[in-house]
Amino acid sequence: MVERVQLANLPTPVEFLPHLTSSLGGPDLFIKRDDLTGLGMGGNKTRKLEFLLGDALARGCKTLLSTGAVQSNHCRQVAAAAAKTGLGCILVLAGQAPEKVQGNLLLDKLSGAQIFFTEKEKRDQALKEHFDKAEEEGLKPYLIPYGGSNQIGALGYLHAMEELDKQKINPDWIVFASSSGGTQAGLILGAHKTGFKGKILGISIEHQTSVFAPEIAALVNQTAKTLEYDCSVTPEDVLIKDSYCQAGYGVLTQAEVDVIRLFAQKEGILLDPVYTGRAAAGLVDLIRKAYFKKGEKVLFWHTGGTPALFAEPYSKRLLQT
Ligand SMILES: Cc1ncc(COP(=O)(O)O)c(C=O)c1O
Repeated sequence: MVERVQLANLPTPVEFLPHLTSSLGGPDLFIKRDDLTGLGMGGNKTRKLEFLLGDALARGCKTLLSTGAVQSNHCRQVAAAAAKTGLGCILVLAGQAPEKVQGNLLLDKLSGAQIFFTEKEKRDQALKEHFDKAEEEGLKPYLIPYGGSNQIGALGYLHAMEELDKQKINPDWIVFASSSGGTQAGLILGAHKTGFKGKILGISIEHQTSVFAPEIAALVNQTAKTLEYDCSVTPEDVLIKDSYCQAGYGVLTQAEVDVIRLFAQKEGILLDPVYTGRAAAGLVDLIRKAYFKKGEKVLFWHTGGTPALFAEPYSKRLLQT
């Protein structure tokens, strides 16, 4: 049994999107607002962190240590979770220290995190070095893997599926951004547990399906094992579209700029430039290609990330015509 610390405002709302539904002329579109989980401006990692923090505190750890990109939403939520629970926070960010401190990085600093920058290729090595140093200094570090995606973090989305089940929307499809895989693994396990009849479709942010699906399947199976829950899936059971990530991680395409404007202007909903923008661009493309049937219910799971809208180069790119 993994301990849980309450960090998120739950349940997050599910809303119908009438204007997008009619303007796209496709399935009935709903949105699950995990951008409103609350902690340090919210997002999907807060759900994972409820369990990761539970584990960290149960082990008597005093400092959270994690890694991500310079505009990592995950690291921003780790910093906020550390602040809320009175722990220290060390973040190893892959990339160069930007001239301007904006978006998620600004919020990391406001939450009091200690920040180190490293080259992407040296990230794991740097993380290990900072972990060892923190241990030597008696800071009792707790390592949260990239994206919080392990068999503990995945529990956040297993519970999220139970939450959705109670909201009685019963969508035919759940579509969302998938990147380190913990969200998708948790959703798959939660779907198994709740007897969900719909399909769970991850839009890949950076990985090819051939590599990513086996990783997610392994995480589902590992999480089930930790819980002593009888569930086993194969990579073929993991639905992923990898056709929208060719531009590369964090590269904002025209289709993504267009969809960010579309959601903002039709529904007043703010997406983000790295994850939900990409996933929504995929969703809209699939609707235009009649991938979903008219009359089906499609739930777009908003996983957060909006602070990155306020960081360059994204903010500048979004203003260009
Ligand atoms: C806003 C947002 N959406 C989706 C994801 C992907 O979630 P996961 O890493 O669990 O696949 C992330 C991960 O960083 C994120 O920040």
